[in-house]
Amino acid sequence: MGAEGPRDAHAGALPPRTAGAAVAFVAAPGPRPAAPLGFLPLLRAATPDDARPIVALLAAVASEHTLGVDPAGFREEEEAARLAQLDLARACALVAERGGAVTGFALAVRGAEPATAHTAAVSVAVAREDRGHGLGRLLLGGLESWARAAGLRKLCAGVVAGNHAALRLFHARGYAPEGLRRQQVAIAGRLCDEVLLGRLLEEGGAAGTAPLGARRPRGGAPR
Ligand SMILES: CC(C)(COP(=O)(O)OP(=O)(O)OC[C@H]1O[C@@H](n2cnc3c(N)ncnc32)[C@H](O)[C@@H]1OP(=O)(O)O)[C@@H](O)C(=O)NCCC(=O)NCCS
Repeated sequence: MGAEGPRDAHAGALPPRTAGAAVAFVAAPGPRPAAPLGFLPLLRAATPDDARPIVALLAAVASEHTLGVDPAGFREEEEAARLAQLDLARACALVAERGGAVTGFALAVRGAEPATAHTAAVSVAVAREDRGHGLGRLLLGGLESWARAAGLRKLCAGVVAGNHAALRLFHARGYAPEGLRRQQVAIAGRLCDEVLLGRLLEEGGAAGTAPLGARRPRGGAPR
């Protein structure tokens, strides 16, 4: 992967645990230099043929210690099988391409239980050398389009505290912090907090106030 630029200097930093403070998006680093878009990215659904570059991408990103997953834990065959069996009603896998090369990957998996079937957990990863060109936004936007088309109402994500790039990206896409799971993720021998984020998809909805069916107002005019 390419050399680490100044805007990435904080991306992998894991500051000492500061419960509560990690939830605040204002903990992000200073201004980011503008990055010109040097290529035209393509966003498309992932296929089993993408398994190899996806696994390579995820292993490389995992080795940055921002995700809390084992870089050696990805298997091309398993990824290919997962993509081959992907049911679009339950999950969405997207890749971003540059010049035919997979340079970003995003996954949304719908809640498995009836009580959570209106939600999906999302994750996104962009190759280090292609960051800062809007691919993260593009991929998340693609997942959001799928979620709306599938009738979902909420998207959720978990981000390791201190992963400022991801926190800022989700914030920019309308995700709000919903909680902090303390010492949730072990990364390189260190227990890190995880920030829980959520975005409601209904128009004009406020957190926790969107009824699924019509509701009679309480204390209204007597019948
Ligand atoms: C998080 C990640 C996906 C962002 O991808 P990206 O393609 O660089 O993001 P974009 O260029 O689309 O940036 C979108 C927004 O994210 C934020 N952002 C992205 N990188 C940032 C950085 N290094 N510092 C601060 N903010 C950053 C900004 O708000 C940015 O909007 P702006 O360009 O208008 O300022 C990428 O850094 C990555 O793959 N990180 C490792 C994997 C990861 O942490 N995934 C999230 C957990 S699921």
